[in-house]
Amino acid sequence: MTLLLLAGTAEAQQVARILSMKGHAAIASLVGATRSPRAIDLPTRIGGFGGEAGFVLYLESAGITAVLDATHPFAARISDRTARICAARGLPYCQILRPEWSPEADDRWTMIAAEEEAAAYIPAGATVFLATGRQGLARFSNLTGRHLICRVVDPPETAFPFANGKFLVGRPPFTPEAERELFERLGVDWLVVKNAGGRASESKLVAARACGLPVAMIARPPQPVAQRVATVAAAIDWVQGL
Ligand SMILES: NC(=O)c1ccc[n+]([C@@H]2O[C@H](COP(=O)([O-])OP(=O)(O)OC[C@H]3O[C@@H](n4cnc5c(N)ncnc54)[C@H](OP(=O)(O)O)[C@@H]3O)[C@@H](O)[C@H]2O)c1
Repeated sequence: MTLLLLAGTAEAQQVARILSMKGHAAIASLVGATRSPRAIDLPTRIGGFGGEAGFVLYLESAGITAVLDATHPFAARISDRTARICAARGLPYCQILRPEWSPEADDRWTMIAAEEEAAAYIPAGATVFLATGRQGLARFSNLTGRHLICRVVDPPETAFPFANGKFLVGRPPFTPEAERELFERLGVDWLVVKNAGGRASESKLVAARACGLPVAMIARPPQPVAQRVATVAAAIDWVQGL
Protein backbone atom coordinates (compact mmCIF):
# COMPACT_ATOMS: atom_id res chain seq x y z
CA MET A 1 0.00 0.00 0.00
CA THR A 2 1.15 3.57 -0.64
CA LEU A 3 -0.03 6.51 1.42
CA LEU A 4 -0.30 9.99 -0.05
CA LEU A 5 0.57 12.60 2.57
CA LEU A 6 -0.76 16.02 1.57
CA ALA A 7 1.81 18.20 3.28
CA GLY A 8 2.48 21.88 4.00
CA THR A 9 2.29 22.03 7.79
CA ALA A 10 4.52 21.25 10.77
CA GLU A 11 2.31 18.22 11.46
CA ALA A 12 3.01 16.88 7.96
CA GLN A 13 6.74 17.08 8.62
CA GLN A 14 6.37 15.21 11.90
CA VAL A 15 4.19 12.52 10.31
CA ALA A 16 6.71 12.15 7.48
CA ARG A 17 9.57 11.72 9.95
CA ILE A 18 7.71 8.97 11.85
CA LEU A 19 6.51 7.14 8.73
CA SER A 20 10.01 7.26 7.28
CA MET A 21 11.46 5.79 10.49
CA LYS A 22 8.87 3.03 10.39
CA GLY A 23 9.63 2.33 6.72
CA HIS A 24 6.01 2.95 5.69
CA ALA A 25 5.47 3.35 1.93
CA ALA A 26 4.36 6.94 1.49
CA ILE A 27 4.72 9.92 -0.84
CA ALA A 28 4.46 13.52 0.35
CA SER A 29 2.94 16.27 -1.77
CA LEU A 30 3.60 20.01 -1.46
CA VAL A 31 1.83 22.74 -3.39
CA GLY A 32 5.12 24.63 -3.81
CA ALA A 33 3.98 27.82 -2.09
CA THR A 34 7.43 28.67 -0.74
CA ARG A 35 10.63 28.69 -2.79
CA SER A 36 12.71 26.68 -0.34
CA PRO A 37 10.38 24.46 1.68
CA ARG A 38 11.69 22.65 4.74
CA ALA A 39 12.89 19.16 3.89
CA ILE A 40 10.41 16.31 4.27
CA ASP A 41 11.66 12.84 5.23
CA LEU A 42 9.72 11.10 2.46
CA PRO A 43 9.86 11.00 -1.33
CA THR A 44 8.17 14.27 -2.26
CA ARG A 45 6.36 15.58 -5.32
CA ILE A 46 5.86 19.35 -5.64
CA GLY A 47 3.12 21.34 -7.37
CA GLY A 48 -0.63 21.16 -7.98
CA PHE A 49 -2.05 17.97 -9.52
CA GLY A 50 -3.79 19.86 -12.32
CA GLY A 51 -7.29 20.06 -10.93
CA GLU A 52 -9.71 17.28 -10.10
CA ALA A 53 -8.99 15.16 -13.19
CA GLY A 54 -5.25 15.49 -12.66
CA PHE A 55 -5.60 14.40 -9.05
CA VAL A 56 -7.60 11.29 -9.98
CA LEU A 57 -5.00 10.40 -12.62
CA TYR A 58 -2.24 10.86 -10.05
CA LEU A 59 -3.97 8.60 -7.51
CA GLU A 60 -4.18 5.87 -10.15
CA SER A 61 -0.70 6.22 -11.64
CA ALA A 62 1.05 6.39 -8.26
CA GLY A 63 -0.98 3.47 -6.86
CA ILE A 64 -2.21 5.49 -3.89
CA THR A 65 -4.22 3.39 -1.44
CA ALA A 66 -4.99 5.99 1.26
CA VAL A 67 -4.67 9.76 1.78
CA LEU A 68 -3.63 11.57 4.94
CA ASP A 69 -4.46 15.26 4.56
CA ALA A 70 -2.09 17.41 6.61
CA THR A 71 -2.64 20.64 4.68
CA HIS A 72 -3.22 24.02 6.31
CA PRO A 73 -6.60 24.58 8.02
CA PHE A 74 -7.27 27.37 5.47
CA ALA A 75 -6.44 25.18 2.46
CA ALA A 76 -10.13 24.35 2.11
CA ARG A 77 -10.23 23.58 -1.60
CA ILE A 78 -7.68 20.75 -1.55
CA SER A 79 -9.20 19.24 1.60
CA ASP A 80 -12.75 19.40 0.27
CA ARG A 81 -11.85 17.96 -3.08
CA THR A 82 -9.66 15.19 -1.69
CA ALA A 83 -12.25 14.08 0.87
CA ARG A 84 -14.93 13.99 -1.82
CA ILE A 85 -12.84 12.08 -4.38
CA CYS A 86 -11.60 9.58 -1.81
CA ALA A 87 -15.16 8.93 -0.61
CA ALA A 88 -16.34 8.38 -4.17
CA ARG A 89 -13.49 5.94 -4.88
CA GLY A 90 -13.64 4.12 -1.56
CA LEU A 91 -10.13 5.28 -0.63
CA PRO A 92 -9.45 5.80 3.09
CA TYR A 93 -9.05 9.54 3.84
CA CYS A 94 -8.20 11.26 7.10
CA GLN A 95 -7.55 14.95 7.85
CA ILE A 96 -5.22 16.18 10.59
CA LEU A 97 -6.78 19.37 11.89
CA ARG A 98 -5.16 21.03 14.88
CA PRO A 99 -7.46 22.77 17.39
CA GLU A 100 -8.31 26.42 16.80
CA TRP A 101 -6.88 29.17 18.96
CA SER A 102 -9.29 30.68 21.45
CA PRO A 103 -8.93 33.98 23.31
CA GLU A 104 -7.49 34.22 26.82
CA ALA A 105 -8.40 36.75 29.52
CA ASP A 106 -6.12 39.58 28.33
CA ASP A 107 -6.77 39.12 24.62
CA ARG A 108 -8.49 41.83 22.58
CA TRP A 109 -9.78 39.80 19.65
CA THR A 110 -12.48 40.67 17.17
CA MET A 111 -13.74 37.57 15.40
CA ILE A 112 -14.35 38.10 11.70
CA ALA A 113 -15.61 35.66 9.09
CA ALA A 114 -13.54 36.94 6.16
CA GLU A 115 -10.64 39.25 5.27
CA GLU A 116 -12.99 41.95 3.92
CA GLU A 117 -14.59 42.40 7.37
CA ALA A 118 -11.39 43.73 8.98
CA ALA A 119 -12.09 47.17 7.50
CA ALA A 120 -15.22 47.53 9.63
CA TYR A 121 -13.15 47.46 12.86
CA ILE A 122 -9.70 48.90 12.10
CA PRO A 123 -9.71 52.72 12.25
CA ALA A 124 -8.24 55.02 9.61
CA GLY A 125 -4.59 55.85 10.24
CA ALA A 126 -3.82 52.54 11.98
CA THR A 127 -0.69 50.54 11.20
CA VAL A 128 -1.91 47.03 10.44
CA PHE A 129 0.26 43.91 10.53
CA LEU A 130 -1.18 41.29 8.16
CA ALA A 131 0.08 37.91 9.42
CA THR A 132 -2.06 36.31 6.76
CA GLY A 133 0.50 35.63 4.05
CA ARG A 134 0.68 36.71 0.46
CA GLN A 135 -2.28 34.66 -0.75
CA GLY A 136 -5.51 36.53 -0.30
CA LEU A 137 -3.79 39.92 0.08
CA ALA A 138 -6.13 41.33 -2.58
CA ARG A 139 -8.99 40.78 -0.15
CA PHE A 140 -7.66 43.63 2.03
CA SER A 141 -8.08 46.23 -0.74
CA ASN A 142 -10.81 47.97 1.31
CA LEU A 143 -8.28 48.78 4.10
CA THR A 144 -7.65 52.16 2.52
CA GLY A 145 -6.35 54.92 4.80
CA ARG A 146 -4.42 52.39 6.95
CA HIS A 147 -0.75 51.53 6.67
CA LEU A 148 -0.42 47.82 5.80
CA ILE A 149 2.54 45.53 6.50
CA CYS A 150 2.23 42.00 5.10
CA ARG A 151 4.76 39.41 6.26
CA VAL A 152 5.87 36.92 3.59
CA VAL A 153 8.32 34.01 3.67
CA ASP A 154 10.05 34.65 0.33
CA PRO A 155 11.38 37.98 -0.94
CA PRO A 156 8.55 39.32 -3.13
CA GLU A 157 8.95 39.39 -6.90
CA THR A 158 6.15 41.89 -7.41
CA ALA A 159 5.38 45.26 -5.87
CA PHE A 160 2.87 45.53 -3.01
CA PRO A 161 -0.58 45.58 -4.64
CA PHE A 162 -1.72 48.78 -2.87
CA ALA A 163 -0.03 52.15 -2.42
CA ASN A 164 -0.63 52.07 1.36
CA GLY A 165 1.49 49.07 2.23
CA LYS A 166 4.67 47.05 2.04
CA PHE A 167 5.96 43.51 2.37
CA LEU A 168 8.14 42.38 5.23
CA VAL A 169 10.19 39.22 4.67
CA GLY A 170 10.40 36.81 7.60
CA ARG A 171 10.72 33.04 7.87
CA PRO A 172 9.07 31.40 10.90
CA PRO A 173 9.39 30.31 13.63
CA PHE A 174 9.39 33.56 15.62
CA THR A 175 9.67 33.81 19.39
CA PRO A 176 7.08 35.86 21.33
CA GLU A 177 9.91 38.23 22.36
CA ALA A 178 10.97 38.78 18.73
CA GLU A 179 7.35 39.32 17.69
CA ARG A 180 6.81 41.85 20.47
CA GLU A 181 9.98 43.72 19.56
CA LEU A 182 8.92 43.75 15.90
CA PHE A 183 5.40 45.05 16.61
CA GLU A 184 6.79 47.80 18.85
CA ARG A 185 9.49 48.79 16.37
CA LEU A 186 6.98 48.97 13.50
CA GLY A 187 4.40 50.83 15.61
CA VAL A 188 1.74 48.20 14.91
CA ASP A 189 -1.78 49.16 16.07
CA TRP A 190 -3.71 46.10 14.84
CA LEU A 191 -2.89 42.53 13.93
CA VAL A 192 -4.84 40.46 11.38
CA VAL A 193 -4.49 36.70 11.83
CA LYS A 194 -6.01 33.55 10.37
CA ASN A 195 -7.16 31.14 13.05
CA ALA A 196 -4.66 28.50 12.00
CA GLY A 197 -4.16 27.14 15.53
CA GLY A 198 -1.05 25.29 16.68
CA ARG A 199 1.98 26.10 18.79
CA ALA A 200 4.37 26.89 15.96
CA SER A 201 2.78 30.20 15.00
CA GLU A 202 0.98 31.32 18.13
CA SER A 203 3.91 33.51 19.23
CA LYS A 204 2.37 36.54 17.48
CA LEU A 205 -0.73 36.12 19.66
CA VAL A 206 1.36 35.82 22.82
CA ALA A 207 3.13 39.04 21.81
CA ALA A 208 -0.16 40.82 20.99
CA ARG A 209 -1.49 39.85 24.43
CA ALA A 210 1.63 41.20 26.12
CA CYS A 211 1.43 44.51 24.19
CA GLY A 212 -2.38 44.83 24.53
CA LEU A 213 -2.71 44.87 20.74
CA PRO A 214 -6.13 44.28 19.18
CA VAL A 215 -6.38 41.31 16.82
CA ALA A 216 -8.82 40.72 13.98
CA MET A 217 -9.11 36.92 13.99
CA ILE A 218 -10.32 35.37 10.74
CA ALA A 219 -12.46 32.26 11.26
CA ARG A 220 -11.55 29.02 9.53
CA PRO A 221 -13.39 27.98 6.40
CA PRO A 222 -15.74 24.99 6.71
CA GLN A 223 -13.90 21.66 6.80
CA PRO A 224 -14.90 18.51 4.90
CA VAL A 225 -17.30 16.04 6.46
CA ALA A 226 -14.76 13.27 6.85
CA GLN A 227 -12.59 11.25 9.21
CA ARG A 228 -10.51 13.71 11.26
CA VAL A 229 -7.84 13.62 13.97
CA ALA A 230 -6.29 16.47 15.96
CA THR A 231 -2.78 15.18 16.63
CA VAL A 232 0.17 13.59 14.89
CA ALA A 233 -0.01 10.58 17.22
CA ALA A 234 -3.64 9.96 16.28
CA ALA A 235 -2.75 10.31 12.59
CA ILE A 236 -0.02 7.69 12.93
CA ASP A 237 -2.51 5.38 14.68
CA TRP A 238 -4.89 5.88 11.76
CA VAL A 239 -2.16 4.99 9.24
CA GLN A 240 -1.16 1.92 11.22
CA GLY A 241 -4.78 0.78 11.41
CA LEU A 242 -5.23 0.79 7.63
N1 LIG B 1 1.68 28.12 6.51
C1 LIG B 1 0.67 28.84 6.14
O1 LIG B 1 0.42 29.88 6.69
C2 LIG B 1 -0.20 28.33 5.05
C3 LIG B 1 0.16 27.20 4.36
C4 LIG B 1 -0.68 26.75 3.36
C5 LIG B 1 -1.84 27.44 3.11
N2 LIG B 1 -2.18 28.55 3.79
C6 LIG B 1 -3.41 29.28 3.50
O2 LIG B 1 -4.40 28.41 3.00
C7 LIG B 1 -5.12 29.03 1.92
C8 LIG B 1 -5.09 28.20 0.65
O3 LIG B 1 -3.89 27.52 0.47
P1 LIG B 1 -3.53 26.53 -0.71
O4 LIG B 1 -3.50 27.28 -2.01
O5 LIG B 1 -2.34 25.79 -0.25
O6 LIG B 1 -4.74 25.48 -0.74
P2 LIG B 1 -6.11 25.36 -1.54
O7 LIG B 1 -6.67 26.70 -1.85
O8 LIG B 1 -6.96 24.44 -0.77
O9 LIG B 1 -5.66 24.61 -2.85
C9 LIG B 1 -5.48 25.26 -4.09
C10 LIG B 1 -4.78 24.33 -5.04
O10 LIG B 1 -3.43 24.12 -4.64
C11 LIG B 1 -3.04 22.79 -4.94
N3 LIG B 1 -2.63 22.17 -3.66
C12 LIG B 1 -2.92 22.56 -2.38
N4 LIG B 1 -2.28 21.80 -1.50
C13 LIG B 1 -1.56 20.90 -2.21
C14 LIG B 1 -0.64 19.87 -1.85
N5 LIG B 1 -0.34 19.58 -0.56
N6 LIG B 1 -0.06 19.14 -2.86
C15 LIG B 1 -0.34 19.44 -4.16
N7 LIG B 1 -1.17 20.41 -4.55
C16 LIG B 1 -1.77 21.14 -3.58
C17 LIG B 1 -4.19 22.13 -5.63
O11 LIG B 1 -3.98 22.38 -7.01
P3 LIG B 1 -4.51 21.40 -8.18
O12 LIG B 1 -5.96 21.72 -8.33
O13 LIG B 1 -3.69 21.79 -9.37
O14 LIG B 1 -4.26 20.01 -7.72
C18 LIG B 1 -5.37 22.92 -5.10
O15 LIG B 1 -6.48 22.88 -5.95
C19 LIG B 1 -4.52 30.39 1.80
O16 LIG B 1 -5.33 31.26 2.53
C20 LIG B 1 -3.16 30.28 2.43
O17 LIG B 1 -2.71 31.51 2.93
C21 LIG B 1 -1.36 29.00 4.77
